[in-house]
Amino acid sequence: MSHEKIVELMSKSDDFVSGQWLSQQLGCTRTAIWKHIQHLKSLGYEFEASSRKGYRLLSKPEKMDGSEIQRQLTTKTFGRNMKLLQSTTSTQQAAHEWYATGASEGSLIVAEEQTSGKGRMGRTWHSPPGKGIWMSMILQPRIGMHRMPQLTLLAAVALCRSLRKSTGLDLGIKWPNDLLLNEKKISGILLESAGEDERLTYIVAGIGINVNWHQDDFPKDLQEKSTSLRIATGKRFKREQLLARFLNEWEPLYDLFLHKGFEPIRLLWETYSVTLGKQIAMRTSSGIFKGKALKLDADGALIIETENGSVQSFYAGDIQQLRQ
Ligand code: BTN
Repeated sequence: MSHEKIVELMSKSDDFVSGQWLSQQLGCTRTAIWKHIQHLKSLGYEFEASSRKGYRLLSKPEKMDGSEIQRQLTTKTFGRNMKLLQSTTSTQQAAHEWYATGASEGSLIVAEEQTSGKGRMGRTWHSPPGKGIWMSMILQPRIGMHRMPQLTLLAAVALCRSLRKSTGLDLGIKWPNDLLLNEKKISGILLESAGEDERLTYIVAGIGINVNWHQDDFPKDLQEKSTSLRIATGKRFKREQLLARFLNEWEPLYDLFLHKGFEPIRLLWETYSVTLGKQIAMRTSSGIFKGKALKLDADGALIIETENGSVQSFYAGDIQQLRQ
């Protein structure tokens, strides 16, 4: 394949190689070389490009090492049963299938790349190889279905705490569970559940973390809204370490939740929130509500004082911060 040949040719040189020389070697046009380079970038290769000198290969995509993740875990069950896939449609789908064949609480699927990553509200989640952590975990808490939103908030608290510790960044949680840095999204969480009547059978908790993206790696429509740990710090992060630390943070908080209820999690969520106290527009299936975000109630609903002075609670929705 031509793009493999390009990597082979460029790996032999630490310096720039011209587009013209590459096109001669491969017997194709310079435009075709440019297209191959764009494709390689989408696979996680990094290049420096110069209009005069051509291209220089900076790095090849880093692969995660599953044994390195296992070595750093201090958990009892979270992540102990783990699958590390090179590519999958969505780790959510892979985890549902794994559950159907017997995987249980704490089983984790991680993928280098997702070809149809899922976001909240039917959106897609871009998940190219080597740039982030794309993972889904199976949970089987013995709780009623109505407590699902609390688990979503809990995952956000655990992720926020662990990434703050790992990176020193001042990350905050936008309701219900987006992690933001300077108003840009760095991570998203999607919980999917299955159950009968009021009883939960299992949950697949999906988490996406933008780790080693450059700003121009993001698709155009996400450039303004998204960021990564690398953009924010200028440093490349070991994904194995971030992932293990997150699971090490998440499991004790999950145990705390199962034994002591939602209150300790609620308090932590409130300390990391970048939503409370702000004027927001809440979009739900029954319309848009504008008002001030006041607090989380004891069940995990967001309490809003709407423009007409009434107080309303929301368990699900999409919010946008309004200019104060
Ligand atoms: C959001 O919209 O903010 C939620 C994004 C969740 C993305 C993660 S990546 C791993 C897991 N697999 C998916 O397909 N989605 C979640």
